[in-house]
Amino acid sequence: MKNEVTRRNLFKRGGLLGAGVVLSQAAKASSIITPQQGEGPFYPRVDQIDKDADLTKVEGRRKSAKGEVVLVHGTVKATDGSAISGAFIDIWQACESGKYNHEQDPNTAPLDPDFQYWARLKSDNRGEFSFKTIIPGAYPASNVWIRPPHIHFRVDAFNRGRLTTQMYFKGNELNDTDRILVDTEQRFGKEARDSLVVDFSSEKNDQGIPIGRFEITLGQTPNAE
Ligand SMILES: [Fe+2]
Repeated sequence: MKNEVTRRNLFKRGGLLGAGVVLSQAAKASSIITPQQGEGPFYPRVDQIDKDADLTKVEGRRKSAKGEVVLVHGTVKATDGSAISGAFIDIWQACESGKYNHEQDPNTAPLDPDFQYWARLKSDNRGEFSFKTIIPGAYPASNVWIRPPHIHFRVDAFNRGRLTTQMYFKGNELNDTDRILVDTEQRFGKEARDSLVVDFSSEKNDQGIPIGRFEITLGQTPNAE
């Protein structure tokens, strides 16, 4: 009897209450629509043949890109948590020095000829996609503003319009003063801001490469058609 009561109490506290907390957290997490951020001026203009999911290697070149290699595992979902398959995902970013492969980038830092800069991916039937890249360098956006390392995303999903946004690296202190991230927090709240900042410190693959998980939730956007 005593054991039963104890078990029942445990169930009440750890089970029912615990389940409730987990459920409400999951519901909350899946309802955060990934916030829009500007496309910026450096979307690639010149086509390139190699746009695959490994940005650390350029077809025909022997060396690998400079910089700290990371793996981004992403998912594209609707607000109810269901997977969105077949979404086209464009990603572009600076190389390790903070330079874009774009003629209008005024940054005098050198380009890395072994970095791919741009990739075009598609979410699979579980809404998932992944790519291998390096952590881009920070770069000056003005005399008083340094942009933190970030990766640009443009996601096109059938019937759900387009989401343009940027992904950041958790723990980088430039995140706290970045005008774009601060503006996102002011407009959409801290949870929305935090959904763009990915943690690469807690998971590695079998080769020791850090993995970060970026969950993209598509909701109604003003330009959705
Ligand atoms: Fe950028």
